[in-house]
Amino acid sequence: CGIIGYVGPQDAQQVIIDGLRRMEYRGYDSAGIAVVAGGRLSTAKKAGKLTNLEAVLASAPLPASNQGIGHTRWATHGAPTDVNAHPHVSNDGRVALVHNGIIENFAELRAELEAEGTTFVSETDTEVAAHLLARELRSVPLLEAMCALANRLRGAFTLVAVDAQDPEHVVAARRNSPLVVGVGNGENFLASDVLAFIAHTRDVIELGQDEAVLISRDEITVVNFDGTPAHTRRYHVDWDTSAAEKGGFDWFMRKEIFEQPQAIADTLLGRYNNRGELVLDEMRSISQEDLRRVNKIVIVACGTAYYAGMVAKYAIEHWTRVPCEVEVASEFRYRDPIIDPLTLCVTISQSGETADTLMAIRHARVQGAKVIAICNTNGATIPRESDAVIYTHAGPEIGVASTKGFLTQVAACYLLGLYLAQVRGMKYADEIRAVTDELGRTPQMIQQLLDNAQQVYDLARDLSSINDFIFLGRHVGYPVALEGALKLKEIAYQHAEGFAAGELKHGPIAIIEPGMPVFVIVPPQGRDQLHDKVVSNIQEVRARGARTIVLVEEDDADVEAYSNVIIRLPRVSTLLQPLVAAVPLQLFACELATLLGHDVDQPRNLAKSVTVE
Ligand code: G6P
Repeated sequence: CGIIGYVGPQDAQQVIIDGLRRMEYRGYDSAGIAVVAGGRLSTAKKAGKLTNLEAVLASAPLPASNQGIGHTRWATHGAPTDVNAHPHVSNDGRVALVHNGIIENFAELRAELEAEGTTFVSETDTEVAAHLLARELRSVPLLEAMCALANRLRGAFTLVAVDAQDPEHVVAARRNSPLVVGVGNGENFLASDVLAFIAHTRDVIELGQDEAVLISRDEITVVNFDGTPAHTRRYHVDWDTSAAEKGGFDWFMRKEIFEQPQAIADTLLGRYNNRGELVLDEMRSISQEDLRRVNKIVIVACGTAYYAGMVAKYAIEHWTRVPCEVEVASEFRYRDPIIDPLTLCVTISQSGETADTLMAIRHARVQGAKVIAICNTNGATIPRESDAVIYTHAGPEIGVASTKGFLTQVAACYLLGLYLAQVRGMKYADEIRAVTDELGRTPQMIQQLLDNAQQVYDLARDLSSINDFIFLGRHVGYPVALEGALKLKEIAYQHAEGFAAGELKHGPIAIIEPGMPVFVIVPPQGRDQLHDKVVSNIQEVRARGARTIVLVEEDDADVEAYSNVIIRLPRVSTLLQPLVAAVPLQLFACELATLLGHDVDQPRNLAKSVTVE
């Protein structure tokens, strides 16, 4: 969910709605706002996208105010209705509160409050927090009341609230869910994401676990939940605001696909010394000795980041010869995985806030493993709770379906694999140098594919009435196939499945129907028998009537007889091929979803960062 709080000289409604607009990708089931004016709360909330709330406010604006809170929701408890939208207001009309996360003990708290005579209007877990805060406020000041409330809650929460009787402050608290403070000049902001206030300030204070904060126009007080002062970290956001605008593209997603050459270049920037050796400064907190001792690597991630992890497994095992497992974060800790201090846990997360991933790395650290995060968001919870972090430097990713996030994660995983090989005394020194050079050329290869986007767009038009798609790949082409299918599901709402090409004949081939599009990612020629095996797999599906769309390197003539459509990929070695092969699949999904009239940036039922387990 997106959360914002504001206090300062500007019109609160305007600042809050602008902030919600920039954060809408975090959740868009419903939206709401509350401001304090003349000792009273005024609220407006509406199911559906933010435009619905804006329509309400256009006909009935809230009173002028300099202090308020807002929320865009991704529903967990209770359907996305007007009543369940945030803010929630206490029975005495004093407290308005917004929440991101899940309050696990809400049922018992609700029973306790109902026994005292509190009436509930919504089905949400959040409402208990509003009532509890109001109860605390009867005896203690706002910040103390927020700490008392936080101490009663179990689960994950970012809470932001205002008190109608306090015209100067906004209060907030966080546990397992993001919250940052925007430090302005005579005004201050609270939000789940710096994007919310980037138009006003770039100075940010990140809040740690179990901390609460009280802001006024000129003061920021951060405390631990026991009331003691908390140690905070301040940083400056350096990307420019245009990163948060569409810049002439119809969708953020399309813009982000086209930003990939630059994004990859930025991921690679500054990682080598003048002898061509990798230097990962961020790794300093894990000693080289620790890295040499590692006898197992486990990669945990969710969604697209998990597929980046699958690619990483092939590369890291090949370069380091250290056994490497990869697992979806939500499954990881519940199966009691075997981890010890010699295990290196690598976690991949664009947002750095995904709850499943966060819980997985906490579990790994409790077992003594060292954790390296690959992340795109400075100061997010996952990098903060990891021993080391490799930032992908992709700039903000706003389209809900990850694109440049994925590619830069893959690139960062290569850097990590090469670095581990270097530290451990690499067996494939020449190969690694060659890979390093080749990685440096990938931005230009990606650009070449983007310059040919029209071919993919035409294909999307040809296939726009089809509802079932298959994607096949082997080796690192397999996760690319899975990612290609996921993109179509996410934004085009089409049935799409990715398979390991060799596994197809063991079952899935039964679903091939005449005319069914099958995308196949063909490995470069000349590596083992991989290439020839995939060519055979193409023939197998073609023989069953499939329409084959073959992604293959530019001078490969072996597939021509079996391909309905050939998408040419620049020449690149097998392990790096995902950096190019994923791009046409991203373009295809984006174009198909556009042709089908879907909201590409905010697909139904999804949210950009899922901060609940
Ligand atoms: C959500 C998004 C996916 C994303 C996944 C992991 O489910 O909708 O697009 O891949 O989270 O996100 P992360 O921020 O951890 O990379």
